[in-house]
Amino acid sequence: MEATLAFEERGSGPAVVLLHAFPLSSRMWARQIDALADRYRGIAPDRPGFGRSPPRPAASMASFAGDVLALLDALGVLRAAAVGLSMGGYVAFELLDRAPHRLAALALCDTRASPDSDEAKRGRETSAHNVESAGAGVLVEGMLPKLLAQGASREVRDEVEALIRGASSEGTAAALRAMAGRRDFTDRLPTLRCPTLVLVGEQDVLTTPADAEQMAARIPGAELTRIPSAGHLSNLEQPEAFNAALAEFLDRAL
Ligand code: MLT
Repeated sequence: MEATLAFEERGSGPAVVLLHAFPLSSRMWARQIDALADRYRGIAPDRPGFGRSPPRPAASMASFAGDVLALLDALGVLRAAAVGLSMGGYVAFELLDRAPHRLAALALCDTRASPDSDEAKRGRETSAHNVESAGAGVLVEGMLPKLLAQGASREVRDEVEALIRGASSEGTAAALRAMAGRRDFTDRLPTLRCPTLVLVGEQDVLTTPADAEQMAARIPGAELTRIPSAGHLSNLEQPEAFNAALAEFLDRAL
């Protein structure tokens, strides 16, 4: 069943769909949507249970990709560039699988094509239980130091913490289980045919620059950009460098 998603939309021009990280929401893309609005139509959906989208049990990566395609249909968008950061990248791979003809370009930011290890899956299940009993706020202490570079500003830390605390327990637990169950797209990388940018924060400890290099090397013609002084949430930590790299790529690709 395809859900009706809440979304942010701004600007006009070729469509760019921005897929958020876990456990954040479309709000994490505010600085990108604003920066792109004079040339692009930015569309940033909230995954069920995040931002303003109501939670939905058992929402897999594939089902969310279906929701995103239904949203694009409803908005009359035939083709779009997809920009996915971390969990958003996992969704972008599902979009590629379901509807490659609808992707005009792809930006894979601080993400990976490989699935969870068995240990990581067990960790996700423990986290899902903790979230169900105590709320998404239980993730703050463990996640914040991994999401952001050590030098991240107080303002960005507060912003990310507020987004985590604002996520619903149901949606957060469902997303953890969906990430644990996601597919392996590693072998598909050499078959990608749309213009691709791989972007990574130089201090990303979750999806490292080495991971990004390996992924980019397997995608024909992919470009790789490292964002200095940024961790995993590179778009929030260094919006100017991130936006410049993204806009330069989109201007060439679309
Ligand atoms: C994210 O930023 O979306 C998450 O770190 C992804 C993950 O936990 O695999």
